[in-house]
Amino acid sequence: MKKEIFKPSREFAKDARIKNMCEYQELMDAATDDYEGFWGGFAKEKIDWIEPFKNVMDESNFPFVKWFEGGKLNVSTQCIDRHLGSRKNKAAILFEGDRGDKQSITYLELYYNVNRFANLLKNDFGVKKGDRVVIYMPMIPEAAYAMLACARIGAIHSIVFGGFSAEALRDRVQDANAKVVITADGAYRKSKPYMLKPVVDEAIKGETPVEKVLVVKRNNEKIEWHEGRDFSYDELIKDQPIECEPEPMDAEDPLFLLYTSGSTGKPKGVQHNQAGYILWAQMTMEWVFDVKENDTYWCTADIGWITGHTYIVYGPLAMGATTVMFEGVPTYPDAGRAWKMVQDYKISQFYTAPTAIRVLHNMGEHEPLKYDLSSLKVLGTVGEPIDPPAWEWYHEEVGGGRCPIVDTYWQTETGGHVISPLPGATPIKPGCATLPLPGIMAEIVDKDGNKKEPGDTGFLCITRPWPSMIRGIWGDEDRFIKSYFGDVKQNGRGVYFTGDGANYDEDGYITITGRTDDVINVSGHRMGTAEVEAALAKEDEVAEVAVVGRPHPIKGESIFAYVVMKHSLEESRFDSYEAIEKEMNEIIKKEIGNIALCDHIVFVPGLPKTRSGKIMRRILRSIAKGEEITQDISTLEDPSIVAKIAALAKEK
Ligand code: WT7
Repeated sequence: MKKEIFKPSREFAKDARIKNMCEYQELMDAATDDYEGFWGGFAKEKIDWIEPFKNVMDESNFPFVKWFEGGKLNVSTQCIDRHLGSRKNKAAILFEGDRGDKQSITYLELYYNVNRFANLLKNDFGVKKGDRVVIYMPMIPEAAYAMLACARIGAIHSIVFGGFSAEALRDRVQDANAKVVITADGAYRKSKPYMLKPVVDEAIKGETPVEKVLVVKRNNEKIEWHEGRDFSYDELIKDQPIECEPEPMDAEDPLFLLYTSGSTGKPKGVQHNQAGYILWAQMTMEWVFDVKENDTYWCTADIGWITGHTYIVYGPLAMGATTVMFEGVPTYPDAGRAWKMVQDYKISQFYTAPTAIRVLHNMGEHEPLKYDLSSLKVLGTVGEPIDPPAWEWYHEEVGGGRCPIVDTYWQTETGGHVISPLPGATPIKPGCATLPLPGIMAEIVDKDGNKKEPGDTGFLCITRPWPSMIRGIWGDEDRFIKSYFGDVKQNGRGVYFTGDGANYDEDGYITITGRTDDVINVSGHRMGTAEVEAALAKEDEVAEVAVVGRPHPIKGESIFAYVVMKHSLEESRFDSYEAIEKEMNEIIKKEIGNIALCDHIVFVPGLPKTRSGKIMRRILRSIAKGEEITQDISTLEDPSIVAKIAALAKEK
């Protein structure tokens, strides 16, 4: 079936940074003809260098690649200081709290707030260049100040999403060997206070590398205080000098770590470095959202994820935009909250996840009509493929049929968008991420690197290093090489494999078909099935467990767990299966957090295994979907188990 095509309007295209497909192609050709010239040119033009770089790219130690060596810069200067000339009184951050409280922070105010924060970390906390600082914060402006303050003094921040449990926080603090944690007492959600500081207390109990905890006041709820370890931000910030000299950073010094899930083992600390990351964050902001000087841009992500890093804080500020930061949820107090904010702030670019679009759609088909959304120019989505009904609703009801939708495909590891429409140039097709951005050599290939024909699903790879690519997994070189460069080879060299499958259509457009590994995507959150399994296996009644994703109408995927118990229910310490299910989800809450709760747990007599003991997840995925099993099961150790599991799963 040929998909409907929506062309950018002339009106929009005329003022866009990239105005048509010829301009797109020219940029693509420029990158193909002279890759280093292409990137070197943009790096010179876009970055405020303290010292110029000598070399564009060095891939002699591939996959450990260096960009813009010899160059020195400071990312906080790029995001703040250089705007003080023409934009000092422009709003950098517009904050809206859950309960409707508002703050507008100009670039000049941001400058002072970040400098003071940087001085606090440097002088009072003794944080030095290269030290790791964990940020466990709600969506409040101080979280952005904390990130930029780290960048200013050369500390490496590692943000842990506020929904992660104490155990998950502990693992990340320890892996990064962080000596400082920045947190808040808590914040508000749906008008009610929730807490973060107690989670930090729990996470750093006993042996820990953490020496000091900085606590921002947000909800003023009562918290425990550990004298000598805990410090009040509100007290300490008052006396800080308002100027802090930015640390001149090498282009390849680390900027931040962000832990994300892989198909095996514990979460990996994805490392991004200074120059390449900030360059692409800024360029993609300009190209993909096409934000103009007087626009107001809103991305609904959380700073705990890469989207929050690149497209709430670093990208918008690097280009001197006004970025909205929202503490609450878009469905509270009602389904109109997000649209009311679009109306009130006159939002020009709105960027959210398909999950959120489906939730808002479900709550009210014509809800957006109640608001004046005429300020909108570009709509964006990210995190998972967007299904046609959600796309159409977003396009018609929210965008009034006027606004291009940029379906941005990227990952924590890519630092910024890699495949996306350009709003003034690319004809779009619903549910399709379209084409690689200029400079990104994305290809769909087989495992030997041969390009796939239209319609054939293959591995989505990026065949040349690009500036904002992941630089490593913190403390684990081997895992970095194996995770990303071990599966697909081209001309004898490993190429970056995203972990996603994809196919070309007859126009060469790329449609993402989803992960090919044991990573699932629940409400746009990436989850390793291995992590969930490891958590569930902590229940002592559990003999074996296998976790798969099951398609879910709102969340994209939900978590489906198959559990083999050590004893029969009668012999166990539980009196019902419901009680075990409850206990297992309690364990998930404790080990990972609410985002990993299992929607379905089914108790089975065994798992489908090959004779060598490998669990056949493909079969479990089919059963979870309610599909007929058509795969060959004769190689299983016990083929009869499949029918038994399917019968039990049917009830779920
Ligand atoms: C995975 C990355 C990148 C920010 C949010 C998630 C999936 C992401 C799309 C899209 C289809 C998408 C992929 C990818 N994904 N964007 N537009 N269409 N799938 O970051 O947690 O690193 O997850 O999200 O499967 O590998 P992340």
